[in-house]
Amino acid sequence: MCGIMAYIGKKQATPILLNGLRRLEYRGYDSAGLAVLQNDNLVRFRAIGKVDNLSEKIKNEKLNSTIGIAHTRWATHGGVTENNTHPHSGCDDKLMIVHNGIIENYREIKKELGDHKITSETDTEILAHLIEKNFSGDLKDAVVKSLLLVRGTYGLVAIHAKEPKKMVAARLGSPLVIGIGDEEYFLASDASPILPYTKQVVFLNDGEVAEITENSLQIYNLKDQKVKKKIEELDWNEEQAQKQGFPHFMLKEIFDQPTVFEDAIAGRINFEEGTAVLGGLNMTPEQMKSINRIILIACGTASYAGQVGKFAFERLAGIPTDVEIASEFRYKDPIVDEHTLVFGISQSGETADTLAALREAKRKGAYIRGIINVVGSTIARETDGGTYIHAGPELAVASTKAYTNMVAILILYAIQFGRNNKLSLATGQRLISAIKEIPEKMNLILKQNDKIKEIALKYKEYRDFYFLGRGINYPVALEGSLKLKEISYIHSEAYPGGEMKHGPISLLDEDFPVFAIATKNQLYEKMVSNITEAKARKAKIIVLATEGDEEIKHLTEGVIYVPPTMELLEPLLNTLPLQLFAYYITVALGKDVDRPRNLAKSVTVE
Ligand code: F6R
Repeated sequence: MCGIMAYIGKKQATPILLNGLRRLEYRGYDSAGLAVLQNDNLVRFRAIGKVDNLSEKIKNEKLNSTIGIAHTRWATHGGVTENNTHPHSGCDDKLMIVHNGIIENYREIKKELGDHKITSETDTEILAHLIEKNFSGDLKDAVVKSLLLVRGTYGLVAIHAKEPKKMVAARLGSPLVIGIGDEEYFLASDASPILPYTKQVVFLNDGEVAEITENSLQIYNLKDQKVKKKIEELDWNEEQAQKQGFPHFMLKEIFDQPTVFEDAIAGRINFEEGTAVLGGLNMTPEQMKSINRIILIACGTASYAGQVGKFAFERLAGIPTDVEIASEFRYKDPIVDEHTLVFGISQSGETADTLAALREAKRKGAYIRGIINVVGSTIARETDGGTYIHAGPELAVASTKAYTNMVAILILYAIQFGRNNKLSLATGQRLISAIKEIPEKMNLILKQNDKIKEIALKYKEYRDFYFLGRGINYPVALEGSLKLKEISYIHSEAYPGGEMKHGPISLLDEDFPVFAIATKNQLYEKMVSNITEAKARKAKIIVLATEGDEEIKHLTEGVIYVPPTMELLEPLLNTLPLQLFAYYITVALGKDVDRPRNLAKSVTVE
């Protein structure tokens, strides 16, 4: 996630660009930069940290330009340095681009570029050089020609000093909105920075390229055919714009999941080899082979992602794996040694307990790695490698998209370790294919939003819930239960289905509903028996089932269907309806969904 802002018109560009970046800062604030056209040359300014640093840097410059591009960065490829900050240029600073997304085949393109002088570690700079190479007088043609060679995702804006009155933008996977003013145009990653100037907008679709001058806008597809677009009138206020029209950040973040899942896996899977390639692991194949135990350390939702990871590591790599609650681990004098690999899993990368537990494991000689969302956070810096989950800023206190991306990365690590051990090529390839299908299947689930809402509303008056799951779906039950209790304040617990008869079942009656996860996997029949036991105690039952399972209907008042996938990947789909269920009950109860009482997004105290 990064933020793009661009302007072309008659006004002074610099203040518009800086104000726009400030509104996009929630998308990343590792560094910021802008380039404007000044006396027929492009001049660029970049600064580490927040937009204020950039503003400070240029406050004494006499900039007098009416066209410019700007970017606020959330580091993905390459560290947080000024050189890695956008805009990026070709060799001679005549062309500059800002880009949001990931160019997966940038290494291949780099090789083809020959003697181009590359000055950063970013995939974006490679794209800038490619466009520069393809430029022969027409910027739009150069951009289109280059994008046809690119694999990955992009929202990008390019300007060229030799075509000074033009701007070219393109989108595939990363959003771009064009605001239409009076002889002026604004471009941004979302509508919030455009709203102070105009409410008339065009949303670029995937595969579209816009050619913009101060008094013309023409959209093309990648076949260079003109595309007619509808101008839309926004009726959002500014906070709504940051939420991209969703009433709450939590709902927006639930709906972000298909996109950010793609960001998490982009460039990290290899179908031919049936494996994942997480370079950040920073271990040789021999070091990987020496690992005889994995420990996943985390808190809350991150630890439930870890529980899915445990299944994956044990099944695919055959390595015994434990999930440790960070606040417990640090005080139990843990047994770890140089054959133990410890992953700290954390959205914020700042959770005090997780950090302290990792330090303890490091002191005892284990390998320490991070699975983190926030780039440059303390845990990311203190671990000796690891992987960013690329979920983008998560602003709702209740974690949703970070959870699914943590699960994604854990599964990728398990595949990587598995392929380094005994996992067959065929199984590796089956997993990679199934992983690629996940975003599309997530979208199918999200399309059932209204139905899930309808079911949730029927249950809003109940004061207690059980969530049941077995095997890989027990962690899903734990996560569904935590989501419900933390935002709605309804009491809820999760149990493995088979454990009910050992105590918890005594609480069940007609006022104590059960949400059962009963997708078609090896434990399906067992789960159906557990549902039957709960129903016999008069509990109302909601079931999450696999598409096509008509049989299950006779056991339940409400069934939500999810598409089938490989058993190990089920949590990547099954969690989404539970997030929506918790969300809609909470909204119906009039509670503060995004800011539940007593909680904080980043828990930096013990
Ligand atoms: C629940 C939730 C928390 C966090 C936990 C760890 O929705 O968000 O349980 O998962 O506080 O936080 P991070 O991942 O930042 O270490």
